Amino acid sequence: MARLLLVSNRLPVTVKAEKDTVSVVRSAGGLATGLSRPHERSGGMWIGWPGDVSRLTDAQRAQVEKQLADLRCVPLYLSASEVSRFYEGYSNRVLWPLCHYMLDRVPRQDRDWDAYRKANERFADLAAKHYQPGDTIWVHDYQLMLVPGMLRQRLPHARIGYFHHIPFPSSEIFSTLPRRGELLKGLLGADLIGFHAVSYVRHFSGTLLRHLGLDTDIDRVLFQGREVRVGAFPMGIDATAFETLAREPAVLDEVKTLQERARGERLLVGIDRLDYTKGIPRRLLAVQRVLERQPSLRGRLRFIQVAVPSRTQVQAYAEYRETVDELVGRINGLYGTVHSTPVHYLYRSLNEKQLVSLYRGADVMLVTPVRDGMNLVAKEFCAARPDDDGVLILSEFAGAAAEMRDALLVNPYDVEGMADAIEQALEMPGPERQERMRCLRAGVKARDVHWWVARFLDRLQGLPSVAEKPPLPDGMLAVDKLKGPGRKVLFLDYDGTLVGFAPTPELAAPDEELMTLLRELSARPDLSVHIVSGRPRETLDAWFGELPVGLHAEHGLWSRMRRGQAWQALPGVSFEWKPKVKPVLDAFAARVTGSFVEEKTASLAWHYRKVDAEFGALQARELRLLLYEQFSEEPMHILPGDRVVEVRPKGVNKGRVVPEVLKDEAPDVRVVAMGDDVTDEDLFAAVPPGGITVHAGNKHTRAAYRVEGPPEVRRFLKALLGK
Ligand code: UDP
Ligand code: G6P
Repeated sequence: MARLLLVSNRLPVTVKAEKDTVSVVRSAGGLATGLSRPHERSGGMWIGWPGDVSRLTDAQRAQVEKQLADLRCVPLYLSASEVSRFYEGYSNRVLWPLCHYMLDRVPRQDRDWDAYRKANERFADLAAKHYQPGDTIWVHDYQLMLVPGMLRQRLPHARIGYFHHIPFPSSEIFSTLPRRGELLKGLLGADLIGFHAVSYVRHFSGTLLRHLGLDTDIDRVLFQGREVRVGAFPMGIDATAFETLAREPAVLDEVKTLQERARGERLLVGIDRLDYTKGIPRRLLAVQRVLERQPSLRGRLRFIQVAVPSRTQVQAYAEYRETVDELVGRINGLYGTVHSTPVHYLYRSLNEKQLVSLYRGADVMLVTPVRDGMNLVAKEFCAARPDDDGVLILSEFAGAAAEMRDALLVNPYDVEGMADAIEQALEMPGPERQERMRCLRAGVKARDVHWWVARFLDRLQGLPSVAEKPPLPDGMLAVDKLKGPGRKVLFLDYDGTLVGFAPTPELAAPDEELMTLLRELSARPDLSVHIVSGRPRETLDAWFGELPVGLHAEHGLWSRMRRGQAWQALPGVSFEWKPKVKPVLDAFAARVTGSFVEEKTASLAWHYRKVDAEFGALQARELRLLLYEQFSEEPMHILPGDRVVEVRPKGVNKGRVVPEVLKDEAPDVRVVAMGDDVTDEDLFAAVPPGGITVHAGNKHTRAAYRVEGPPEVRRFLKALLGK
């Protein structure tokens, strides 16, 4: 039966050893709490770390394993060194602050990369061991970014999803990571990569373009011949469970006690893991400002801040704790009286009932992280308010802000602004509070965690599996078929196929190795070589005029069949659109620094290879749209190429060269076509049955074989020469 294998660093339960007893308790943090109930429902398995078990006796360990097995959890034990180097080190000292835009917290040297890679390998091995054909594997979060790629190597046909629970930062930030390339490629092992927010998807796509040269087409990207989907899936919570709990008499009793003890004080509540991303110090300062500004509120305000201990062995967390402790002490020292304490600070975790009682009893919930992937506390608060009351103050920098527009949105760096929001919340009239809360609750209930899981998995499971679309065989395998006697005709594209891309077209001139190779190929009596390029005649003449090869310029508009023959144009082609289109391209060249227009007899090209990759791709999209819009009636084609937008007349394509050349050949001639971009697809389409088509790169192609790029194309051609 198809099962769901969840793989995350932390299991939803953590082992807790106290003196002689050992138990498992629920883990804190959005990933664990959010996915717990979907896991309970799924009947699948969850692979992850159950926390520190080093002090357990063998008997205790056996007891724990039994409990974990009952919960369908498969433990992966981390050694002390893995905890310090993989978990605390690379995951939480490097990736965590970096993805939260806190570059200054990243150590100068990432000494723990190796440990990160090795631990990821252990997770991949264990997941692969438990995998059964038909299972879906869903890998979670930044601690395991290499796992999808490692799993793809071990299980080429498996269906693999990945979800990033924290922000994916702008490519400017991600680019600072020395290991950025490996991490990106690791993620691309998945079939579907999910983020909480559209902005993270954009950042990820921009980073792929910048560092791997991969252009994402709205929601998909081609990598090593596979299509990888990317999307925004904002995570929800189990809203019904929170609401049910919030109606329980025990919770209502607790709320009543809380309010009675508060003796008329208004309750502000904050609940977070004690993490420097959560903005607790500035939140405290905002509460202090309210007390400073409004003497009438002194003694009438109680701020309960719960800070759940987290990653305590990481120095930044210990320091943060001291900062928070000090601030709490300072505010209480300044504004406390013998009868009241403004800040009630709890450094511990709560059980669900206590948590929900606080949500239900709060007048104002303060969720003000300086950066947060989503933030589930904000959603849990709303779900726990069936009374449609309570005000949510929410940071603009939490992923949740994109969905929860009826909260009071604040900039967590603006302490005065937050103080204003607290005052506004305290003074907000009942009807407005209720209207806002009703809207918030409707969103939280409609897009709950089950909706989230279903959306992600439906998308993942609905994709064509790799098994249905196997990768193309390596082009080198085709060489054997071509060995032996019999004439062969080679159709070779130039840029991206015989040579790599250079910053300007002129710089991509053929090197000596290529010239020798072409000379040797064309000297063979059983081989005829045709270069079929988008370049102008003049360039092909200058570079290859002296070689006994066929030359085809401007995608087959011009042909010089043999050395010494004149160039001939395809008949019946219209160029009247050219003077109308040229000014549009010129305007783009003027406004996008580094881009330029190339004019050929029959076509125009706007090149942007020297432009910033993200900006260039955006502008190219805009240019294409504009051209489609303005010139839809003209007999011209608009072709997106590699860092170029090309406009050429209808009726001209590389495929037209093939029958012209084959006219003079015997019917049993062997045809080989090699190319790298969309214009070469016409060439492939024109190759008669029995011919060999080879795509150089990882794009969508109709070719039968694939090689990686120009070096492999040359290897292929040398092999034809028997080298
Ligand atoms: N939480 C918990 N124990 C507590 C307090 C909170 O398990 O004592 C849970 C809370 O219910 C929420 C999660 O921890 O589901 C925090 O998730 P969030 O997305 O807000 O932040 P994260 O901790 O993942 O950064
Ligand atoms: C965040 C991360 C999770 C992590 C959780 C708790 O929610 O996205 O991956 O599990 O914090 O942190 P911890 O380090 O205790 O697992």
